[in-house]
Amino acid sequence: MSKTRAIAIANQKGGVGKTTTVVNLAAALSELGKAVLVIDLDPQANATSGLGLTRQPGVSLYPVLTGTADVADIIQPTPYENINIIPAEVDLAGAELEIARRGNHLEAVRAALSRVFESGVFDFILMDCPPSLGILMTSSLAAADGIVVTMQCEYYAMEGLSVITSIINQMRLNGANPNLALDGILMTMFDGRTRLAADVVAEVRSHFGDLVYNTTIPRNVKVSEAPSFGQPVVFYDPSSRGAAAYREFAREFAARYEAC
Ligand SMILES: Nc1ncnc2c1ncn2[C@@H]1O[C@H](COP(=O)(O)OP(=O)(O)OP(=O)(O)O)[C@@H](O)[C@H]1O
Ligand SMILES: [Mg+2]
Repeated sequence: MSKTRAIAIANQKGGVGKTTTVVNLAAALSELGKAVLVIDLDPQANATSGLGLTRQPGVSLYPVLTGTADVADIIQPTPYENINIIPAEVDLAGAELEIARRGNHLEAVRAALSRVFESGVFDFILMDCPPSLGILMTSSLAAADGIVVTMQCEYYAMEGLSVITSIINQMRLNGANPNLALDGILMTMFDGRTRLAADVVAEVRSHFGDLVYNTTIPRNVKVSEAPSFGQPVVFYDPSSRGAAAYREFAREFAARYEAC
């Protein structure tokens, strides 16, 4: 069985395509035969509803973090083969306080997931981070093998990336996660009609070179419609431009790890 790779999809900026990427990367990886576990770490629970599940009180990483539930009992199937999820619900917000009260809070998520890592059942764990620099986000980064940052193709897109890169460096230096790396940057919501979008992509590429994935996700109305049907666009409208882009991204994403 292959090694499980845990990837945090992160950006403390809100509305930059993190959840859309988690849900659709999971969908497209599942089509490639990969076993995926999505972990919804955002109390807004958008990844949970985007994969067709309703929020259930008590069913989130929270009770696992506090040691009152077994992770195996919290992992839920989704309507899709090869995609399982640890859902979120509003109570997850309380986990921040609970974990903060203890020492070693950066290790909380890694400890909660240790049995999942050991089981080797999943090829990829995709963690949907909330738009904040809170404890859930930082302890997810501490548990991750790598980070994918999503960036909206807009002015000021790069603002804030330095915050993530300095957190990565800090975690490496203080030993919280010595191997943590920025695996890649995915440009999302690209609007081909504007000069600005092309300029932003060019600027990000000039700073970060090959770290920027070749695939750019276009702004596509099907992508924004799909969550209201509780489906990833990859399944909701498989022939849409958004679905095609996420499939291409999944191949590029998986190939980077296979080459390692
Ligand atoms: N490629 C796209 N085309 C059109 N709409 C998109 C696209 N990607 C994301 N959206 C829409 O933009 C909004 C924000 O996307 P998303 O929820 O994925 O961002 P996020 O970074 O997870 O936000 P938050 O920080 O609040 O968790 C959503 O309404 C989503 O449907
Ligand atoms: Mg989100």
